Amino acid sequence: MSTAAERVDLPMTVAAEPITTLPLPDAVTIYEVGPRDGLQNEKAVVPVAVKAEMITRLLDAGLPVIEATSFVHPKWVPQLADAAELMGVLVDRIGDAARRMPVLVPNERGLDRALDLGLEHIAVFGSATETFAQKNLNRSYDEQFTMFEPTFARAKEAGMTVRGYLSMCFGDPWEGSVEVDAVVRAGVRLLELGADQLSLGDTIGVATAGHVQAMVAAFADAGVGTDRLAMHFHDTYGQALANTLAAMQVGITTFDASAGGLGGCPYAKSATGNLATEDLLWMLQGLGIGTGVDLDAVVATSVFMADALGKAPASAVARALSGQ
Ligand code: HMG
Ligand code: MG
Repeated sequence: MSTAAERVDLPMTVAAEPITTLPLPDAVTIYEVGPRDGLQNEKAVVPVAVKAEMITRLLDAGLPVIEATSFVHPKWVPQLADAAELMGVLVDRIGDAARRMPVLVPNERGLDRALDLGLEHIAVFGSATETFAQKNLNRSYDEQFTMFEPTFARAKEAGMTVRGYLSMCFGDPWEGSVEVDAVVRAGVRLLELGADQLSLGDTIGVATAGHVQAMVAAFADAGVGTDRLAMHFHDTYGQALANTLAAMQVGITTFDASAGGLGGCPYAKSATGNLATEDLLWMLQGLGIGTGVDLDAVVATSVFMADALGKAPASAVARALSGQ
């Protein structure tokens, strides 16, 4: 009988054209969030040296965008309280490549911290619902936009790009279902403030394929094309890959993912890991969709992180390929 480790060399998949009436893209961009969305949710505070190693390995694996950390209040997310130190280590190690890595910023104080380090890209994060705005940002739904306005304005003035995240787009653990129109209204507000890209977060992983396609259609009706949208799926209900396929069929080409399937949100009840980068890569490779990312190198990074965290990777593909 072969062991799991031996099985990885066998030709396990057959490349096949999918039978679908909807087109698929030739290539997609993977926006890696493991170092930020993944590590913000770990019980253990990971040492800076391990975080820097994770990020440089992901860079070497070919990931085009890596969200490195968050400049939020250190008491709210102690796991990322070392953000400035980490970015300093990365700049020493890889120079401008580190300055090009986006970081999460909720307000002007966070922006100042990113500007001090000469960083070029930030991501502001809002909520489609009232309850999560209060829990995650200590602001009402409307107050969050008031907090974001000068953050966007000053970041743009400084020549930064600003990604806008929107959480709870497909359901909220306190409020239940969330109307598609409400999500579009909140997303358009972030775009009007100057977001270069809008990432639609399924924070608690409840989305299903039809809902995803309806969301993209509703944004199109509001004049927001797929070129301005990204999808941010968590895999709580095991739907993230199906949702990704559905989103690609209607034109989305940027997907957030986290090496090893690490992730969650400390302020969102029942949010578990993000779509794992290697699970996404496995599907995309099977479909012949280009990413420029080396699957084996991502799996090796996930195994490295799983060892550092003392647990097996959550990603099915990482477990299968590494025999863990
Ligand atoms: P607050 O307590 O209301 O802050 O928190 P404040 O504005 O009242 O300021 C209080 C003190 O905090 C002041 O200091 C500020 O300077 C300081 P003092 O004058 O008292 O000495 N302060 C800061 N210090 C460092 N960095 C900062 C900062 N801001 C204020 N940026 C705040 C408001 C937004 C700061 C807080 O609620 C917060 O940090 N929240 C972050 C929560 C978070 O990180 N959640 C996880 C990320 S979101 C996510 O995971 C979802 C996503 O993945 C998409 C999806 O899945 O849906 C993106
Ligand atoms: Mg998230």
